Amino acid sequence: MAAKNTNMFSLIFSFIILGLAHLNLVNTLSPSYYDQTCPNAESTITSVVKKAMLNDPTVPAALLRMHFHDCFIRGCDGSVLLNSTGKNKAEKDGPPNISLHTFYVIDNAKKAVEALCPKTVSCTDILALAARDAVSGGPTWDVPKGRKDGRVSKATETRQLPAPTFNISQLQQSFAQRGLSIDDLVALSGGHTLGFAHCSSFQNRIHNFSSKQSVDPTLESSFAASLKSVCPATNTAKNAGANLDATPTTFDNRYYKLLLQGKSIFSSDQSLVTSAKTKALVSKFASSQQEFQKAFVKSMIKMSSISGGQEVRLDCRVVN
Ligand code: HEM
Repeated sequence: MAAKNTNMFSLIFSFIILGLAHLNLVNTLSPSYYDQTCPNAESTITSVVKKAMLNDPTVPAALLRMHFHDCFIRGCDGSVLLNSTGKNKAEKDGPPNISLHTFYVIDNAKKAVEALCPKTVSCTDILALAARDAVSGGPTWDVPKGRKDGRVSKATETRQLPAPTFNISQLQQSFAQRGLSIDDLVALSGGHTLGFAHCSSFQNRIHNFSSKQSVDPTLESSFAASLKSVCPATNTAKNAGANLDATPTTFDNRYYKLLLQGKSIFSSDQSLVTSAKTKALVSKFASSQQEFQKAFVKSMIKMSSISGGQEVRLDCRVVN
């Protein structure tokens, strides 16, 4: 009788595990995932990423954003790394991703790792590690690994990425759809402590804002004037734009301080001070670099654990 009960129990237990696995709720990632199969993977990736960052100061911001865009479409599965093929336009050629760059850094890291341990380390893990290395000078953390690469990448799906014109409820919904909370939203938006935006990404705030006002009134006036001068209404300079905060290559809490002064770049950034809960978090991070970094690490690990793929790609740009 006892044996029968035990069998029944293990059967039910297996069904539950299978069900959870199907829903991608079982987190199989682990910081020691490659310890036996490729112990030097991580240090090899880090040295490739560090070298690229030294050569080009725009690399860190680009890698961090690339990882975010990867995880928000089909989970973290390296779908953003795939090239378009004859019949399929891939994510990287979708409108929000046109400005992504530094794919070569992931290719170089993959080549170095393949030489050490072939067919073992996923491109998605390489990107997650590169994003962690990109915030050097800021916090660091142990990246859980074991992600698999996906086989599908569609440019049309990049419509699911949050837009810089989103208000707080649209942002909240976009994050919630990926299992991310409002706390994650505020902490991860701190990624905007690095990098740059093209005029088109914040044009809505400085020209024809509404039928009554041409400029977003929540923008501090001298800041608005400086944005208008680099991005006139008939902007023709393809590379014109503004840094996301005043220290765009330093991973600090300046972004939150500027946010409280009406000096954020996107409507979506500004929207973080339109609800009491998010505003309180913005104030907390503005006054404590440590609180920001602690929250950022927690939310990055959460975001980068959204699962997706099923294989270890040999070439990050092409499915096996
Ligand atoms: C909350 C929703 C978000 C929206 C609406 C948003 C939107 C944008 C937009 C429009 C740009 C500028 C693109 C351009 O003009 O070239 C940008 C840049 C950037 N975003 Fe976000 N973003 C969001 C969240 C995040 C998150 C979660 C991260 C990372 C944790 C992140 C990291 C970055 C970085 C680092 C850049 C600068 C890229 C570079 O200089 O190459 N963003 N974002």
